[in-house]
Amino acid sequence: MIINPISNFIDVKNNMVASKEILNKCDKKLDKLTFNKTFSESLDLLDDDIKNIQMKDLSIKFDDKTILENINMEIENGKKYIIIGRSGSGKTSILNAILKRIKVDDNHIFINDMDINSIKFYNKLSCVAQNNSVFPYTLRENIVLNNHYDENKYRNILEICNLEHLDDENEFNIENPSLSGGEIQRINIGRMLYSEKKFLLLDEAFSALDDNNQIKIQQYILSREDLTVISIEHKILPEVIKYYDYKIEIQDKKCETTKI
Ligand SMILES: Nc1ncnc2c1ncn2[C@@H]1O[C@H](COP(=O)(O)OP(=O)(O)OP(=O)(O)O)[C@@H](O)[C@H]1O
Ligand SMILES: [Mg+2]
Repeated sequence: MIINPISNFIDVKNNMVASKEILNKCDKKLDKLTFNKTFSESLDLLDDDIKNIQMKDLSIKFDDKTILENINMEIENGKKYIIIGRSGSGKTSILNAILKRIKVDDNHIFINDMDINSIKFYNKLSCVAQNNSVFPYTLRENIVLNNHYDENKYRNILEICNLEHLDDENEFNIENPSLSGGEIQRINIGRMLYSEKKFLLLDEAFSALDDNNQIKIQQYILSREDLTVISIEHKILPEVIKYYDYKIEIQDKKCETTKI
């Protein structure tokens, strides 16, 4: 008679212990996800353009796995950096750390000599992520977004990104935008260029482009002296590599910067 209630109690207790574990994990994940929002709302907005980024003894860990260890790096205004390294070496994690998509302790990443955890700077940079898509708007809306519309500037960007052949009237269907991977990438690059941000983070932004498109667009971006560029790439074209100032190679949790 008393065996059943006791075994029920043990089941309930076990479930409670298991749930607590899951809730703890959810809390940790939520903490990471809400980090930007919670902490950035009260932070000062960076007034100046980004002039430099410094990483000092930066390590990146996910749970107990160390991805990058004691990274030191300096990104200078107007220079162009290519990041290379095998898949899983931590290239995207570096950009995510700069973008505050992953939490980094104080005193490891600085923008204009200020700790990134003490400032907001999203208005100063633009990025093209590794996996990108289009919004369910027209081509023009996808590129211009909320910025002021300037017909000449828009047409110029369509020309640079070889997007002039696309229909400009209809909204893209998000499920099936009827666009090639390369066109989607070029729309994302076009959006970045239209925003006129001076600091660009590119995560395999050209990976789906044919060589001609890649060379044309990269030569345009990399020869603009007003832009600072950090670009992760797998396919390195000789026509393009000469436009970079530095190569950052990620290997064995370390990074090495060499002049090109
Ligand atoms: N949010 C995360 N949580 C746990 N592990 C992660 C997270 N993000 C990345 N990782 C792990 O960190 C390592 C580095 O990932 P990262 O995305 O930086 O690699 P990558 O060099 O950009 O690779 P690829 O060339 O394939 O894009 C991988 O082992 C990945 O599984
Ligand atoms: Mg990556």
